[in-house]
Amino acid sequence: KKARMIVEKDFKIAEVDKRIFGSFIEHLGRAVYGGIYEPGHPAADENGFRKDVVDLINEIGVPIIRYPGGNFVSGYNWEDGVGPVAERPSRLELAWKTVEPNEVGTNEFMKWAKLVNSEVNMAVNLGTRGIDAARNLVEYCNHPSGSYWSDLRISHGYQEPHKIKTWCLGNEMDGPWQIGHRTAVEYGRIAVESAKVMKWVDPGIELVACGSSNRSMPTYAEWEATVLDHTYEHVDYLSLHTYYGNPNNDLPNYLARSLDMDYFIKEIIATCDYIKAKKRSKKTMYLSFDEWNVWFHSREADRKREPWSFAPPQLEDVYTFEDALLVGCLLITLLCNSDRVKIACMAQLVNVIAPIMTENGGAAWRQTIFYPYMHASVYGRGVALNPIISSPKYDSKDFTDVPYLEATAVYNEENEELTVFAVNKDSAAALQLDADIRGFAGYEVIEHIVLEHDDMKAVNTAAVPNRVVPHSRGGAQAKDGYIQASLPKLSWNVIRLK
Ligand code: AHR
Repeated sequence: KKARMIVEKDFKIAEVDKRIFGSFIEHLGRAVYGGIYEPGHPAADENGFRKDVVDLINEIGVPIIRYPGGNFVSGYNWEDGVGPVAERPSRLELAWKTVEPNEVGTNEFMKWAKLVNSEVNMAVNLGTRGIDAARNLVEYCNHPSGSYWSDLRISHGYQEPHKIKTWCLGNEMDGPWQIGHRTAVEYGRIAVESAKVMKWVDPGIELVACGSSNRSMPTYAEWEATVLDHTYEHVDYLSLHTYYGNPNNDLPNYLARSLDMDYFIKEIIATCDYIKAKKRSKKTMYLSFDEWNVWFHSREADRKREPWSFAPPQLEDVYTFEDALLVGCLLITLLCNSDRVKIACMAQLVNVIAPIMTENGGAAWRQTIFYPYMHASVYGRGVALNPIISSPKYDSKDFTDVPYLEATAVYNEENEELTVFAVNKDSAAALQLDADIRGFAGYEVIEHIVLEHDDMKAVNTAAVPNRVVPHSRGGAQAKDGYIQASLPKLSWNVIRLK
């Protein structure tokens, strides 16, 4: 099969906001305890942070990390996690049915985030708490000094304010599983009142309101419209969450799921713009896709777990090669929508549905999905271009007209580098790609990275951490203004040109 692309410098979608390559650490399973923090581990630093994990995160380059939840945040008293560790309470954590010792809290996490060069996207509890706890947390974190909460931070050893810019107004408040689940009107009211006072404490912050927990929620779209009706002028982003899986082992249908993500984004843009029209507002609402990933492998095991242990293995999906292909497609979809999606968080980062896995006391390694995420983050900075693509198509169980080629291009004006990201979804044969790059005179291929594997279910483990790894023998060539590349069947490709 053959596919064509026209890549032009002037066909711009937007400057990619680097926060689109964000991630997420929740107090859940072994994400914090045994993941980023494990005092006594041979690789731990003086604060108990695992340097092997820090190194892997720095390989990806994760510009923003959402914290501390997730469902966890809706029952969290942030005050439990500050001050002398010995005095912090252990609590029953109702979202994930574990015991939370509060050894790591806001200040420790902010300290850790510096090691991985990340901003923090801090979520406040609008489940069991509300306006008061939210504005106090902003004061504790961001106010320089001379007030009760800022002076308390200083007394805890943090003289300088954390200056956290991005804040989430709760988490998945439309979901009946959420502690303090609310109707859209109830949430819209508490979100706007919290937003007002949080911005009064620090006018420099940006706020994310909760959208639907996924596109299948019964209140979908109506929820967004109602919430925005209340909050539109007080918030900066609306959140989207989605997780995909392949429980029926239907690969063509699974790889088409990126179309679902694209429809989802387009529908939420339409809903935001409807409220914009209704309010005759000049403001454009941006999107924060602050939870996305593959999540299904671990669900059965999690159902069988006994409650009330400390940091048990939870949501520990072991990702296959085919999961990495879908993750690549989802990253391309986010880039293609980068005019409206300004923040996106792969959920999550370590151990819990994560690109990085660890053993307690042992190794840390890269899961299959690590690679497309790292490639997109490292090479996807710059201007997202809008290539014209013609590709043969297929139909699957839930989708029609799925292009075999999912692709996009990013132009990094600073380095004068052009990167084409491409997935061939065809299981039958390589796809011959012919890309017109005549606007990039003299550009040559500097690398064609490929992630491919014969076994769709191949995984990386502690014992065999390099079963699925990319290689640079793709062989794409640029000649007379055209890229000629053979994209192997079922492969993730990064073609770098300069
Ligand atoms: O990321 C795992 C969970 O998925 C989060 O806690 C929740 O927000 C979502 O349902």
